[in-house]
Amino acid sequence: MANMQEIARIAGVSLGTVSHVLNNTAKVSEPKRARVLEAVQAAGYQPSQLARGLRRDTTNMIGMVIPDITNPFFPAVVRGAEDVAFSNGYRLILCNTDNDHSKEIMHLNELRTYLPAGLIVIPSNFSDLTTQAESYRRAGSGVVCIDRLPRNWSGDSVTADNEAGAYDATRHLIQLGHTKLATITGPLHLTNAMDRLGGFKRAVKEAKLHLFPEYVQETTFDKQGGHAKTLILLRLIPRPTAIFAGNDMIALGALLAVREAGLRCPEEISIMGFDDLDLAETTNPSLSSVAQPGYQLGTTAAQILLDRRDGDTSPAKHIVLETLLHLRNSVAPPSEETNGNSSAKSRRGSKQK
Ligand code: RIB
Repeated sequence: MANMQEIARIAGVSLGTVSHVLNNTAKVSEPKRARVLEAVQAAGYQPSQLARGLRRDTTNMIGMVIPDITNPFFPAVVRGAEDVAFSNGYRLILCNTDNDHSKEIMHLNELRTYLPAGLIVIPSNFSDLTTQAESYRRAGSGVVCIDRLPRNWSGDSVTADNEAGAYDATRHLIQLGHTKLATITGPLHLTNAMDRLGGFKRAVKEAKLHLFPEYVQETTFDKQGGHAKTLILLRLIPRPTAIFAGNDMIALGALLAVREAGLRCPEEISIMGFDDLDLAETTNPSLSSVAQPGYQLGTTAAQILLDRRDGDTSPAKHIVLETLLHLRNSVAPPSEETNGNSSAKSRRGSKQK
């Protein structure tokens, strides 16, 4: 493979001139510059990012640590970060933690040794990442946490308005006439799962509905969890007439469990998701869901890092992105049969018995 000496020989210039052209470190006459670039092209020369990074004490890499690469929500977030990074000459290096905090710490510690330009983290849980972030800052790299936040996080962050999204979705179910509302939350050690439960409870409380403790089930953010917890909810008496799922994967598991139990959605039970994944349109029935801007979470985080890199020293940014309720076919007013004897409308806002 060609090296810089080879380029200098082909172009008939000094090694220093080649270095100045490639690193843009000094003005080089246009004819010489053109000869160097032609030689680079002809020899297929690719400068070593590693060597360049060591010289400058930083590379053009942005590290990104995500909790679950198999969850269809996260690719859009990564894509957003990658698009902004790539179009600004940076490259993304991706690590998956499997929601495992020790793996997360290992990735954070190791990534730092690659001298990244910055780091984007979707934390695996509520553990404090202040020490790790501090060591990045000392090395001159920014850290942005997105989607969920670690304990005591005071650095840059980008999240969706999880509380408001959950509130809107629950309020919609209540406006349809549901009074027996259940929720299957994500892991409650995650801030987004906690906030979504907070929004659900706020809407239920505002409507003066009673919330049975068993109507709140906690699980992991996946289909298996949604399936198992829905089977529990379906055995309760009175059976809930609507389920607000903490994310779309939980909602998919809920749809499956409802079908297996021989019930019809939405006629006998409504199901609402959160995320609005592409697949929400393709389920049967199609899934109503709270859309959160995954792509924008990624683009915003990457842009913050690049701004910091360009010298933005303003106080920590805490950006909260809006959600939007996407109504499809998985929610409907409760039938008289499932909701009790009197009409759904007359019970709106009343207490559950
Ligand atoms: O689907 C994965 C869930 O976990 C999403 O709702 C997202 O917010 C993430 O934290």
